[in-house]
Amino acid sequence: MPVKTSVYTLEQLQTAARDFIRALTPLSNQATVVGLYGDLGSGKTTFTQAIGRALGITDPMQSPTFVLIKQYPLPVSKRYTLNAIRYLIHVDAYRLKNSDELRNLCFGELLADPRNLIFVEWADRVVDILPENHRKLNFRFIDEKTREISFS
Ligand SMILES: Nc1ncnc2c1ncn2[C@@H]1O[C@H](COP(=O)(O)OP(=O)(O)O)[C@@H](O)[C@H]1O
Ligand SMILES: [Mg+2]
Repeated sequence: MPVKTSVYTLEQLQTAARDFIRALTPLSNQATVVGLYGDLGSGKTTFTQAIGRALGITDPMQSPTFVLIKQYPLPVSKRYTLNAIRYLIHVDAYRLKNSDELRNLCFGELLADPRNLIFVEWADRVVDILPENHRKLNFRFIDEKTREISFS
């Protein structure tokens, strides 16, 4: 798959998130899953928050490090951007050793529902329960003011 790599400041991130959503084709038979890979502090949570804003979510989106899964309904007025998508689901697997805990939280049901757009931080820790063909975004710290994102 072709890889697009760009460096973003915080200010540029919102445009990047909007472009990502515009270019995204949701799956019709299961959830659309985006795996976020990269070290602590590389910008995974911040990018997911920018995605939330691009989708019109006004609730504050905190990092789901302790609750593991957070679910945000899309405002009706914004649904046209992603047709069937109704929920943005933000998962953080940072604390997990493996995917059992997510399995116990009925993650399988979320994966089966095509109304869900699921962003998973630390996707490498639970990659065994993610769809094999999920979108992968790699984050890298460049310097205090910028981060690199590779979209494949
Ligand atoms: N593109 C960016 N440019 C500059 N700073 C960023 C960028 N993305 C995130 N940050 C900053 O980096 C810090 C860590 O980001 P965060 O999203 O929590 O990382 P992660 O979730 O990967 O651990 C935050 O202070 C955030 O404001
Ligand atoms: Mg994070």
